Order: sequence, then C-alpha cells, then structure tokens
Amino acid sequence: MHDSFVTYKNFYFLKVASALTAVLVIFYLFHDAYPEPNGGSWLGYLLGILGAVILIWLSLLGIRKRRYRSSQGNTVSWVSAHIYLGSALIIITTLHSGFQFALNIHFLGYFLTLLVVLTGFYGLYAYSVYPDKITANCGDLTRDTMFDEVIDLDERSLAVAESISADLYAQILELIESCKVKPSLFQQIFSNSDYKNENLESLVNRIIDSINSDHGNRDKLSLLHDFILEKYALLKRIDWDIRYNCRLNWWLYLHVPLTLALIAAVSIHVFIIFYYWW
Ligand code: HEM
Ligand code: HEM
Repeated sequence: MHDSFVTYKNFYFLKVASALTAVLVIFYLFHDAYPEPNGGSWLGYLLGILGAVILIWLSLLGIRKRRYRSSQGNTVSWVSAHIYLGSALIIITTLHSGFQFALNIHFLGYFLTLLVVLTGFYGLYAYSVYPDKITANCGDLTRDTMFDEVIDLDERSLAVAESISADLYAQILELIESCKVKPSLFQQIFSNSDYKNENLESLVNRIIDSINSDHGNRDKLSLLHDFILEKYALLKRIDWDIRYNCRLNWWLYLHVPLTLALIAAVSIHVFIIFYYWW
C-alpha cells in the first residue's frame, strides 16, 4: 500500500510538487522585494496564501479518509498528493518567510509545520514497515482468534492437569491468572525484546523434570508441556501484534493534534498581520 502512495501514477504528484516549488523558487530568486524578501511583499503574500490553501487541503484528508473509506483508488491518490504537497509546504513557507526567523508567534506556525511534516515522514516509514510485519507475525490469524486459541489451550491444559494431580491443576490455574499481555506504551513503541513470563518458564521446567521422573504420567505431562509452550508462542505473537499496531498508528496522535495547533497558529499569525495593518 505504501508503495502506491509514493509511486502513484509514476510519481505524478512528486513531479507536480517539484514543478510548483521550482517555479516558486525562480520567482523568489528574481522578484524585486524591498528592502529584502519577506512575507509582506506581493510574492510573500502569494506564497502565504498558497501555503494556507495547501494547509487546509492537507487537513481535509482526515475527513476525506473517513468519508471514502471504501474507495481505495481515490484514497491512494489523495494520500500521494498529501505527502508530496505536504513536503512542498516546507519550501513554500520558508520562501514566504523570506528566511526571517525570530522566536515569535509567526515562527510558531513555521515550527509546527516542520513538526507535522516530520511526523508525516515517520508515518510514511511506519506504513512501509509495519503492515508487512503484522502479516508475517499473525499469518492468517487475527488478534481475537489468537486469544480464542489461548483460551482453548488453557481449557485443555486444565483438563490434562486435573487428570494428573490437584496440585498441578492449581499451578496451571495460577499460571493462567499470571499470563497478562499488557505491554506499556514505552514497550509498545521502543522495546524489541520478546514477551517474557518467568512463571510460565519455571512451570515448564518443573514439568520437564516431572516428565523424566514420573513415568506413569509421562504422556500427559508431555501434552501439557506442549500446550503451555504453544500458548507461550501465541502470547508472544499477541504481544508483537499489539506493539506493531501501536507503532503503525501512534504518530497520528501527534500528526493530527499538531495539525490543529498549526491551523490555530497560522490563524493567529494572519489575524495579527491584519490587526496591525488596519
Ligand atoms: C502555512 C502558513 C503560514 C506560515 C507557516 C507562515 C509563516 C511566516 C513566518 C515564519 C514569517 C516570518 C515572520 C518574521 O518576519 O518574524 C511570516 C511572515 C509573514 N506572513 Fe506568514 N505564514 C503563513 C501564512 C500566511 C498567510 C496566509 C498570510 C497572509 C494572508 C501571511 C502573511 C505574512 C506577512 C504579511 C508576513 C510579514 C510579517 C512581517 O514582516 O512582519 N502568512 N509568515
Ligand atoms: C503541514 C503538512 C501536513 C498536514 C497539515 C497534514 C495533515 C494530515 C491529516 C489531518 C491527516 C489525517 C489523519 C487522520 O485523520 O487519520 C493526515 C494523514 C496522513 N499524513 Fe499528513 N499532513 C501533513 C504533511 C504530511 C507529510 C509531509 C507526510 C509524509 C511525508 C504526511 C503523511 C501522512 C500519512 C501517511 C497520513 C495517513 C493517511 C492514511 O491513513 O490514509 N503528512 N495528515
């Protein structure tokens, strides 16, 4: 999917955005701004208004995405235009400012533009990496079906343990209660180590010991051992599924609020400009 955003119609929107910025750079280099290029020259106003129009258009993607969720073709062209025109916005707003940067409310809009674009690039990276990882990790299963399998394995483990001893049954019950897959937000975003459950590992080791000593229950214990390890593998996959999905989407929780802050900052910027003008 990500490739189609980037390469859509043989990089059509990359060409459009490059041509647009090339023309604007040429205008910028040759226009006659007195005393120096700035947002208040005729080209400065043109670039500011163009930047604001593109900003509003980029922001409409959220609405568009929800309205046309079913028509994939349409959405791909919108996202492709979004990433290239979004990137062009950096050049357009830089030319608009005439490189006049100071720590003030005008700069806030520019700074937020940089942040939104930066998070957008992370999003593009995430869309290019995590869908494949999610598919490789889950195969044909969804998170719900993996949970269903875990429940099924728990029930079968309890049944086998009950037929061996009450003590083992109690241990399995305790293990089931301790098996919570709940990675912290930090782990979801940054940690690359597998889900680990020490209770489960030590129970598996005890069962291996029993297999060697308790010959009467050897087959049942082996079955139990396999059930628990199968469950452990599923828990690891569920844990990775949670992490990959978080990594695929968390940036949107920055990209969208930052967009709203950007719209507010640009509105204030324009308000101040006209307030002091009149
Ligand atoms: C994405 C939208 C925009 C961004 C990020 C942006 C950003 C900036 C920045 C960083 C400056 C330089 C501030 C300074 O000199 O300290 C500037 C100047 C200016 N902008 Fe914008 N701007 C945007 C849209 C607009 C729009 C829509 C207008 C007007 C319709 C506008 C009008 C101006 C004017 C008149 C100046 C010159 C102010 C001065 O020299 O004191 N800008 N803008
Ligand atoms: C100032 C510039 C930008 C603004 C205002 C903006 C705004 C938005 C908004 C409002 C959404 C909809 C999110 C949602 O509702 O789920 C969105 C989605 C997205 N943006 Fe941006 N964006 C900008 C620049 C960029 C750039 C430069 C890139 C990539 C290089 C990018 C990549 C994306 C991606 C991949 C999506 C998700 C599309 C999807 O889920 O179908 N954005 N953006």
